[in-house]
Formats: sequence, C-alpha cells, structure tokens
Amino acid sequence: MTMKMILATSVASFCMAGAALAEPQAEVLHWWTSGGEARAVAVLQEEFASRGGSWTDMPVAGGGGDAAMTALRARVLAGNAPTAVQLKGPAIQEWYEEGVLADISAVAQEQGWADILPASIAGHMQCEGTWCAAPVNVHRVDWVWANKAILDEHGIAMPTTWDEFNAAAEKLQAAGITPLAHGGQAWQDATVFETVVLGVGGPEFFRSALIDLDMDALQSDTMKAVFDQMRTMRGYVDANFSGRDWNLATAMVMNGEAAFQIMGDWAKGEFLAAGKVPGEDFLCASTPGDGYLYNVDSFAMFDVEGEDAVAGQNLLAELIVGQNFQKVFNLNKGSIPVRSDVALDEFDSCAVLSANDMAATSEAGSLLPSYAHGMALRGAQAGAITDVVTAHFNSDMSSEDAVAMLADAVANSM
Ligand code: BGC
Repeated sequence: MTMKMILATSVASFCMAGAALAEPQAEVLHWWTSGGEARAVAVLQEEFASRGGSWTDMPVAGGGGDAAMTALRARVLAGNAPTAVQLKGPAIQEWYEEGVLADISAVAQEQGWADILPASIAGHMQCEGTWCAAPVNVHRVDWVWANKAILDEHGIAMPTTWDEFNAAAEKLQAAGITPLAHGGQAWQDATVFETVVLGVGGPEFFRSALIDLDMDALQSDTMKAVFDQMRTMRGYVDANFSGRDWNLATAMVMNGEAAFQIMGDWAKGEFLAAGKVPGEDFLCASTPGDGYLYNVDSFAMFDVEGEDAVAGQNLLAELIVGQNFQKVFNLNKGSIPVRSDVALDEFDSCAVLSANDMAATSEAGSLLPSYAHGMALRGAQAGAITDVVTAHFNSDMSSEDAVAMLADAVANSM
C-alpha cells in the first residue's frame, strides 16, 4: 500500500465513522460592518471557532444589504456560492425556488425549532416543509431615537403623534438644530416611509397597502397624507443628507448634531457600542401610532460540496438558534432574541419595550413584517415601491403624482 492509499483508506473510514470528524468550515457573507454590527457578528465567529470551526469572512458593506445581495447573485451565477449567507424574508424562498439552498431540517428537528420559535417567524424559515434558514433575532423597525440632552434643553418630550413630531422638529429647527438625522439612501427613505405608513394609516392600512398591495389603498387619500408627511420631513434633514450611511446619521444624534433618527434598533447597537446609555444619553420610543414592524435577520445555507462545508453549515445553524448566542449576540446587536425562552434580565429598557410590544401586537393582529427590510414582499415589488418613495423624497413631486406613480409601479412589477 502506498502512503496515498493508506491515507485514502483512513479518510474513507473516518468518513464512515461519521461527520463528527469533519472540520467545520464556513464562508459567511453578511453586511454587518458598522461598529455595533461588527461587535455582534464577532460573537458568532467566536462561538464557531470555540467549536473548532474555521470562518472565512465575506463582509459586504452597505446598510440594508443591497450591496451584499448583488455580491451574492454574482457568486451564485459564477457557480461559487458562499457557505452561509445573511438572507431574510421572501428572498429565502426566492433563492430556494432557484434550487440553490441547502436543507438544514436535521439540525432544526434535533433542536426542536418548531417548538421554540414563534410560528410567524418559523414560517419565514421554511421552504415547502423543509427548514431553509436559521433565525438570528427580531429587529423592530418603527423606532425614533433621540438625543436626550437636546430634548431636555428644549423642553421636548418624545413625540407620540406625527403632529407632535412635527411641532418638536419645528421648535428645534428654529433653535438651529437639525431635527432629523437621515441618510439619503433608498433603503433609509423606505425605512422612514414605512413607519409613516404605519403611523398615519394604522396597521390595517399598512397591511392593505404594503403587504396585500391593494390598489385602492395605494392610491388613497391616506397614502397622499403619508407622502405629505414625507415632504414635511424632507424639510427636517440637513443639507448633506444624500448618500450618508445610517450609522453616521446615528452618530449625529449621539454627538448632538441632530435630535432624532428614525431607524431600526440596529441603531441602538451603535449607541451601545459607543458606551451610551438608554434613558440617560439617548431615548427610544416607537414611532407614532400602533403596531410593530418586525425584521428578522437569518442565515440561509447554500448548497455547496464537501463534508467540511456541510459540517460548518450545520454547526452555524445550531449555534445561531442556541440560547447563549441568542442572548449575547442580541445584547450587542440592539435586537431581541427570537426565542421567547431567553431571559431578558440583562437587556435594556428599549429591548424590554420591544419584547412587550411584540407580544401585545401579536395578540392584537398588528405585528407586521417590514417591507423596507425585505420581510413583506418579493424583491420586485419592494423595489418598485422604494423607487417611488426615493424619487418623491428627492424631488418636489406632489403627493398626488407620487400615489399615481406608486400604483403604476406596483402594477408593473407583478
Ligand atoms: C438588517 C440589520 C442591519 C441593518 C443595517 C437591516 O436590514 O436587518 O441586521 O443591521 O440592515 O445594515
């Protein structure tokens, strides 16, 4: 027997002895590159390494993940998909339909995901009865963040209606303060827009307009009122807003350069990473109105060759849903655990508010998927809406023209 044959025989018998001997490997594509995000993803890297995994990082900067999704498509087209990809909402099922996702049902069954995940979230992780993604967290999108010192100095309380928001913004503007920190990128415009749809129209209107894509809702006077409010808010951003990254907008609130930001609670991850304390340095409140817009980050595994890669995928899936990861990751990320059996004692008041509101809105039927963060619609429809929102925000388009354009864009995207 040559050395090569001996090695081949022993490798074969190792394999037969089980995948436990494989060395877990994963190339992980994600867009967690800001300060808070990087701290959070490091938790997964550390857990993976402590279980013998070797992690190849593929970060693609760009909030909201648009650039990451472009990079993903290029890799898959080149026949070289990453092992694990930050992917969420209907995009998971879209990729599944292309036949490129791995089945992680064995891990899901072993860990009893069906019992530990809320049904609404489990649904996003399944593809025709198999488990095709592992959920990381629940981010809430409909938040207002504020610089506490600025509000105190001007005798302003956190707004509970859009009128109060506008009144506060005007008072601040008159005092020379930028009311709203915003980054003019399409996904950030969409983020603000969907909170206004929820607040101005209410949860049922949000459902008709942005989930069911009901033409009457899209062209309604309520939708005109939404665009009116967007136009008003365009007046509250500073002159340099175009193209600004979301975390730089968060930094403006942190540093006292602006009073408010409307952004999901990954913004809280930035405040925390900078050592800021909720209730002391910054304030959080849900945007005016009822309801809760959820955004669940998850990882899908792509169908790749090799025992080490499969072992890496299974290990990642197992760690992601594990209790310790769910706690430590989410403490850093600003989100809350996806499992309800993770204690929240170490979480801050914003996280506790999020968890309580999530439970209450789930009961009330107003727990809704975020359209702006890819939870509600397929890519083509979401993209069509966002194009109109951005075109309106960056021009002097009237609200009448915006609703007409919105209805057309949605109809053409179907
Ligand atoms: C993701 C978050 C991320 C944020 C900013 C959202 O779509 O769900 O995890 O922090 O985009 O990049």
